[in-house]
Amino acid sequence: MPEQIWTDVDDYLVSLFPSDPILDRVLESADQADLPNIHVSAAQGRLLSVLARSVEARSILEIGTLAGYCAIWLARTLPTDGHLVTLEADAKCAAISRANLEAAGLAERVTVVEGAALETLPAVKTDHPAGFDFIFIDADKESYPDYWRWALELSHPGTMIVADNVVRDGRVVDSGDDHPQILGTRRFLEAAAAEPGVFTGFLQTVGAKGYDGLSVSVVGQT
Ligand code: SAH
Ligand code: DHB
Ligand code: MG
Repeated sequence: MPEQIWTDVDDYLVSLFPSDPILDRVLESADQADLPNIHVSAAQGRLLSVLARSVEARSILEIGTLAGYCAIWLARTLPTDGHLVTLEADAKCAAISRANLEAAGLAERVTVVEGAALETLPAVKTDHPAGFDFIFIDADKESYPDYWRWALELSHPGTMIVADNVVRDGRVVDSGDDHPQILGTRRFLEAAAAEPGVFTGFLQTVGAKGYDGLSVSVVGQT
């Protein structure tokens, strides 16, 4: 659970900006559908948008859509002829996301691909042979090592790859914690750190979503 002060500070930071009825409505739609409240926070949505803008992303891949909250943040950074592809295993989440992206006026720029990501990624590669400028990994943690390989496969020099939830309340350093999600996270971190030709940094985070962290990698750098 997040400490109250982390949530208060997140609320304060977000309150510095105008309210956003479209994104508020997305969170409401997720609540109404009993989806877990595991969207990125508003502050993180902003930060991811800064990162996507910093590489002038015209093409974005997200793995793990949920209700489309983060997809909307990221798709808003795209030029009108840009595109975002987001992968979602759950049919209910895919349907809710499509409706939310439509309501946000982003349906033309975004494709929600329904199905387990490891099954849909081969066709994503066929459809997008040039790969993506920005990739956000945020689906099942067990598969992060596989998503890392796919992200590299779908990258070009300059692609930025960001992964969510790499700290998980510090569980990542608890040697007694061998939950498959934590093992997947550790294998991912080890693979990213060891990857030749990719430069990776890590950021521990606190906020409305508790204590966690992000990795940020740039392809084609040493
Ligand atoms: N990026 C979203 C949150 C994603 S939550 C946001 O911040 O708004 C993780 C999502 O990954 C869930 O919707 C879950 O259904 C989906 N998921 C889990 N396993 C998956 C898989 N194998 N392939 C694709 N999506 C998966
Ligand atoms: C979980 C998944 C997430 O992507 C996240 O940001 C927080 C929690 C989860 O599966 O518990
Ligand atoms: Mg996440």
